[in-house]
Amino acid sequence: MTLELAVKAFILHSYGSPEDLELTDVETPEPRQDEVVVRVRATSVQPYDWHHMRGEPYLSRLMPGTLGLRKPKISILGADVAGQVEDVGAEVTEFRRGDSVFAMLEQGGFAEYVRVNADRLAPMPANLSFEEAAAVPMAASTALVALRDAGRVEPGQRVLVNGASGGVGTFAVQLARAFGAHVTGVCSTRNVELVRSIGADGVIDYARTDFTRTTQRYDLLVDVAGSRSAWNCRRVLTRKGTFVAVGGPAGRWLQPAGHVFAALAMSPFVPQRIALADVVRAVHVKQNLLTLTELIESGAVRPVIDRSFPFVEIPSALAYQEAGRASGKVVVTI
Ligand SMILES: NC(=O)c1ccc[n+]([C@@H]2O[C@H](COP(=O)([O-])OP(=O)(O)OC[C@H]3O[C@@H](n4cnc5c(N)ncnc54)[C@H](OP(=O)(O)O)[C@@H]3O)[C@@H](O)[C@H]2O)c1
Repeated sequence: MTLELAVKAFILHSYGSPEDLELTDVETPEPRQDEVVVRVRATSVQPYDWHHMRGEPYLSRLMPGTLGLRKPKISILGADVAGQVEDVGAEVTEFRRGDSVFAMLEQGGFAEYVRVNADRLAPMPANLSFEEAAAVPMAASTALVALRDAGRVEPGQRVLVNGASGGVGTFAVQLARAFGAHVTGVCSTRNVELVRSIGADGVIDYARTDFTRTTQRYDLLVDVAGSRSAWNCRRVLTRKGTFVAVGGPAGRWLQPAGHVFAALAMSPFVPQRIALADVVRAVHVKQNLLTLTELIESGAVRPVIDRSFPFVEIPSALAYQEAGRASGKVVVTI
């Protein structure tokens, strides 16, 4: 298979800010036996990327399997890709050159070509463009893991999604509905209509109402925003309810890891179940993508895209996403 001799990628040499990413030529990837090389047509940007870019929170540098201690563990960021199969390894029988695919990776999406293990890859939903498909993998898988695995959601339950208007939240609202739950989303004033439009039965505007002070009780609280302590969130859970920690406001030293650990530490002292959604360590990557494809193709779930950037503007896309005001996903076309 002949590819271009050198391909473009954004390289992260050391921890820093979006401008420190260098657009440079890298070697054309060759697939190992169980891998596929994908010509990336679109990727997306999310907190995972800028946590790795900044090396923050510092606490995570000390935790095995997360950030590198002194320098980035990842040299090419980008966890989501949608594109076309360019080449396949000898053991790969499921994919052929030209297939449209999407994948959730640990790294490598901010490049024209990427090597992907076949078990992190699935055929792209037939009703999505590359741009839309690139919005799905990490954010929607996180929402799926939070609701189905950590949250054990059941039809008829009342679910509250705190942080309903962002990348993960817009999928969480739609997935909770698809699982037959009654969903309430918490978001800012300007996103109330958006959250209603994607199927929330109720919307709480956090500028007007502190949801932890309301009288409604929920069976499951998916905490994407982490804007209130888990201890306070408990007030709105039923006695047998479940709190699922997903994320929280970013900080230099501790957050959002500190917020998530504080929630887990509460577990032995409260009757409610406290669980963590961790998509990076989730095992069934391909199976999750296939489940999401079914839901997307049935029309139950649709990615919400805030803004799209061209490949050369990946640093601007990162800065925009990091500002924390995107309604839905920030995507990049290549
Ligand atoms: N555990 C995992 O495996 C996993 C995976 C992916 C992401 N995460 C984490 O999940 C979090 C969200 O990720 P994301 O991709 O959805 O980020 P995002 O697209 O930037 O969304 C963040 C959302 O938080 C909302 N928000 C800000 N202040 C709020 C408040 N006081 N109350 C309620 N909502 C508020 C914002 O909505 P408004 O503009 O409407 O305020 C924004 O849409 C991050 O902390 C990320 O690190 C965890």
